[in-house]
Amino acid sequence: MKKGNTEAYIDQISQAVSFIQGSYAGQPKVGVILGTGLGQLIDHIDVEKSISYTDIPNFPISTVETHAGELIFGKLSGVELVIMKGRFHYYEGYNMKEVTFPVRVMKQLGIAQLIVSNAAGGLKPDFKVGDVMIINDHIDLFPENPLRGRNLDDFGVRFPDMSEPYHLDLIDEALKIAKERGINAHQGVYAGVQGPNLETRAEYKYLRTIGADAVGMSTVPEVIVARQMDLPVFAMSAITDLCSPGNIKKISIQEVIAAAAIAEPKMTEIVRDLLYKI
Ligand code: HPA
Repeated sequence: MKKGNTEAYIDQISQAVSFIQGSYAGQPKVGVILGTGLGQLIDHIDVEKSISYTDIPNFPISTVETHAGELIFGKLSGVELVIMKGRFHYYEGYNMKEVTFPVRVMKQLGIAQLIVSNAAGGLKPDFKVGDVMIINDHIDLFPENPLRGRNLDDFGVRFPDMSEPYHLDLIDEALKIAKERGINAHQGVYAGVQGPNLETRAEYKYLRTIGADAVGMSTVPEVIVARQMDLPVFAMSAITDLCSPGNIKKISIQEVIAAAAIAEPKMTEIVRDLLYKI
């Protein structure tokens, strides 16, 4: 971004933050981004306020039917949350500054942690549809980086460290919770790709070869921006289809959503318990 563009972007973030603070006086401690088919967490929240994305100045507007597009404020496990019901995907045509705009806004609203969920294809041979994978690292295969351009110095450093993008204590806690609750949670590496097409067999093989356990079309940009702002991140994938050799079959978005629904109660339990520890 040119100098003027950077200032304009910062102004846009401030305008969105001022609008939200003018409509809701609470102070969210944790931000949550809900992935495809993973909106049910909202049913467990004591909702205090919900704001449509369309009402927030400068907020991109979600184009995918499965994403409702609301910022929801409320409490879960006694913790004040701001929840993005619906996220912005690069494949929808947004640039990375737009995709990650809400993460900047949530940080300015005062969140101290970010929780992210997504639907993903399972590359590791022992994964099953409806399994949960706690993300312990990622591989960025997007063609654009959200930090490209003049650095937003007020938000964070030019060259953020990415040696530990997902908070190790949160991963440990989540694995402990899963074990206590009899949830078979995996941990692994998430590869972020631009989509919107799913991968060819050769691409799945390549992704597995380079070290990915799951593949999806989101999360990585938001996590990069969160880490630039020094926000601790916890992220989970719902495994919605199997992409290991011998397991690949044609899938539809309906099947992805149905599979996410199997993983969803497990992810909700993990988040609910994790919040008690935060
Ligand atoms: N590939 C990419 N993104 C996905 C997949 C997949 O197989 N499943 C759900 N999101």
